[in-house]
Amino acid sequence: MGQEIWNKAYRTDNSFFGDEPSSFAIHSFNHLKTDSNSINNKKKLLELGAGHGRDTVFFASHGINIEALDYSIIAVNILNKISNEKNLPVKSQLFDIRNKPLPFPDTYFDAVYSHMFLNMHFSEEELHFILSEIRRVLKPTGWNFFSVRSHDDKFYGNGREIEKGIYDINGFHIRFFTEKEIRNLSSSEGFEILQIKEEYEDPVNLFLVIAKKR
Ligand SMILES: C[S@@+](CC[C@H](N)C(=O)[O-])C[C@H]1O[C@@H](n2cnc3c(N)ncnc32)[C@H](O)[C@@H]1O
Repeated sequence: MGQEIWNKAYRTDNSFFGDEPSSFAIHSFNHLKTDSNSINNKKKLLELGAGHGRDTVFFASHGINIEALDYSIIAVNILNKISNEKNLPVKSQLFDIRNKPLPFPDTYFDAVYSHMFLNMHFSEEELHFILSEIRRVLKPTGWNFFSVRSHDDKFYGNGREIEKGIYDINGFHIRFFTEKEIRNLSSSEGFEILQIKEEYEDPVNLFLVIAKKR
């Protein structure tokens, strides 16, 4: 469910989200750099819903080892091609994150990053499961960087509500969050929020969240 619209988007435009990293990736990287274990220690980062990899390429170009997951085969192939051409430390795999444990051992990653991913078509139960899996694969006090669409988004309330809180916006299935929902979800799954701020990334409104495993 849902893959086809993403396959079509990436097939039509190999760089659907552009080639530049998002400002959230740069913001997250700056936090990662503040860790006492210096960045030169080859940090391991997992990216969920990486798409064609505008942010993956940015992290990898700064020496971070990345595992990237996405359920669009077109996106995975684009990212693998770019990583091979640029010889970047990226492993990109096809993976549907709903209700399946992440394919990595416990406490494996320094950070998990996802940009506009947790607002995809996930039920509340699935969201709790994904957060619990993120927590499992993170090292103690590992970072969880994520962004989600907000209720201030101009698309919120448009389109058909296909499931509680999830709207069909031109064929894409999107959940919109309040700050309170993010705080409740994060704390119930064992994350401490260090920062949460709202930002406009043309054409959408996002909450940018910097959290740590408790
Ligand atoms: C809004 S896009 C963001 C892409 C990328 N993070 C970026 O900002 O450039 C969301 C991505 O999540 C992927 N996705 C949605 N549901 C998924 C699922 N259940 N499992 C894995 N990937 C999923 C889509 O294929 C798409 O690439």
